Parts: sequence; structure tokens; C-alpha cells
Amino acid sequence: MPGRRLRGKVAVVTGAARGIGRVLVHALLAEGATVAALDVSDAGLAALRDSLPDGGKDRLLANLTDISDYAACEHAVGKAITGLGGLHILINNAALGMGAIRIDHQQVPVGIQEISPAMWQRFVATNFSGAWNMTRASIGHLLGQRWGRIINITTSFATMLRGGFHPYGPCKAALEAMSSGHAKEFEGSGVTVNVVLPGGPADTSMVPPESGFERKDLISPSVMVAPIVWLYDSLQMLNRMATPTEFTNFVIHNFDEMLAQSKRHPLVMGISLHGHVLGQPYRLHEFRRAIRHIVSKRNEIWLTHPGEICKHVESLPKGIVPGS
Ligand SMILES: NC(=O)c1ccc[n+]([C@@H]2O[C@H](COP(=O)([O-])OP(=O)(O)OC[C@H]3O[C@@H](n4cnc5c(N)ncnc54)[C@H](O)[C@@H]3O)[C@@H](O)[C@H]2O)c1
Repeated sequence: MPGRRLRGKVAVVTGAARGIGRVLVHALLAEGATVAALDVSDAGLAALRDSLPDGGKDRLLANLTDISDYAACEHAVGKAITGLGGLHILINNAALGMGAIRIDHQQVPVGIQEISPAMWQRFVATNFSGAWNMTRASIGHLLGQRWGRIINITTSFATMLRGGFHPYGPCKAALEAMSSGHAKEFEGSGVTVNVVLPGGPADTSMVPPESGFERKDLISPSVMVAPIVWLYDSLQMLNRMATPTEFTNFVIHNFDEMLAQSKRHPLVMGISLHGHVLGQPYRLHEFRRAIRHIVSKRNEIWLTHPGEICKHVESLPKGIVPGS
């Protein structure tokens, strides 16, 4: 449901002051999240705050942070956790564009001799190591709560391999490799790692007027919102076909995630089984794995049926259930 899907979640967005980051901050706040907005631009962060509706301003922590500095990342993550009460979502979005080297880089490819060693290091430190710094600073907390979503913003495959587009392209290729490795490393922990990209040049300052593109032909930064919200709303996974093993893994993963969250507030997990699962012995056999997992935690949960839940809710004093 729009406006509620991320309620109770704390998100950290890097490069939040403008472009795609700024659009994502607006979208996350609109979905109910609390957001730590990180950027190197103080003026940009102030403008971001000014652009928010009143309800959004209260849920924003703007934090001047250079992601190429590990200590600064650790400090920003700590401030989000203590100041906003947690951390669930990390969006590694900040990056330098090729305009930092030459404004007409789209027309005239950038050659290796134009790139000073200091500029190469600056790109690697921001566009690649910056995401590692933020992930490293956050991961202990995310693994500890057995839930986290890390999204790394990369670029099109062609841009990674393109001639005359260094250091931007190779940094994004490295970021994709790191994302894949981290996704495997954290598999089963409740922390997922994914990449999202606009799919072409987007209408932000990273693509300057000198780039030669007609602004109307550029992709709107808002295309990033739907896939990112989808990734955080894991229940959406149910809307696709899955193998019996995937389905069982999904039930176990969701159960563990809800069990961890239920330490803070009560949660109800219901599983409806279609004949597609029940009518096939091999699917049912696989599904028993999920049931065995759930039953192994029976001391931590209340195994019941809908009628008992209704009776319990009816028995609660007025005011506990909203609207009662
Ligand atoms: N615009 C595009 O065409 C396009 C295409 C594909 C991918 N992307 C990716 O999308 C992401 C966002 O790009 P954008 O177009 O919004 O760029 P942008 O240049 O408009 O915004 C980038 C933001 O990152 C901040 N930033 C730069 N260095 C930083 C640092 N060291 N620490 C913290 N913040 C820093 C900048 O101040 C700026 O606010 C980037 O990762 C970019 O590579 C953009």
C-alpha cells in the first residue's frame, strides 16, 4: 500500500543531495521510512531538507559525509542507528560522473593520459570503495538484526566496458562484482544485496547540458523508485513463479525475518497452500522442510488458527487494537 510499505524502516542514502539520490529520499519518506541523507554538499543537503513536506522533514537526518573516508562512514552509520533508532536499508548511490574530468566527455572520449593518478584514486575511493566503506560500517548491525537490504547503484553493462569512459566504467564493474560476492556471502542471513540502475543516461546533473543529449530523451530518475521499494517489500516475491525449493526457502527466510522482528512487536504469519503444492508429493515433501523449521521454534511462537486469533483480539482491552 503506497505510503506505508516502509514504515518502521530506517534507510541510509548516499549522494542524497541531488539527482537520483534526492528522488529516492523523497520516495522512501513517502513510503513511511526514516532516512539518513548523506552527501558532501552541505548546500545540497539544506536544499533537500527545504524541498520536503513537513511530515518528511521530521523523518530526515541530513549528514555531511564523504563516503571515501571510512571513519566518516562509520560515524554516519552510528549516528543513523542512535539518532534514528536503527538501520535497515542502505542505498549506495553516491558517485562521481565523468564530468569531473571533462565536461564534453560524451563527444570526445577521455584518454588515459588525461586522467591524473590522483583523479583515478578519487574515483576509485568514491565510486567503488565508498560503497564498500558504507557496507563494512553497516554490516555488523544488519547481520545482528538478521534483516537488511543493501542496494548498490551501478550502470549499464556497455558503460562499464566502453572505451574512453574510465575510471567511471571500471569502478561500476568492480561495484557489480562486489555486490555479487556480498550477496553470496550474506545469503541466508536475512541481508540481501542487489544492484539497480536506470538503464541509460538519466536526467540529472551527472549528464551535463554539454553532453549533447536532448533532456527530453533522458530517463527520469523516478524509474529507480519502483524496483527499489519492491526489493524492500519482500512479500512481493510471492507474485512470481517459484520452484518448490525456492518457495520453501522463501517461507523459511520470511519466518526467520518475522521472528526476529516480533521481538519488538507482535506479528502474524499466515501460509495459504494452493493445490499446486498440496497435490504433488514432491512439492509437499519439500514444503515439509519449512514446517519442520517453524515447529523447531515452537517455544518462541504461538502456533494457532484464525479463529483463535480473532478470539484473542476480541479479548484485548479497548485501545490496544487501533480503532477499538
Ligand atoms: N545520471 C545517469 O545517467 C546515471 C546512469 C547510470 C547510473 N547512474 C548512477 O546513479 C547514481 C546517482 O547518480 P546521479 O545521476 O544522481 O548523480 P549526481 O551527480 O546528480 O549526484 C551524485 C551525488 O553524489 C554526491 N557525492 C559525490 N561524491 C560524494 C562523496 N564522496 N561522498 C558523498 N556524496 C558524494 C554528489 O554531491 C551528488 O549530490 C550514481 O551512482 C551514478 O553512477 C547515473
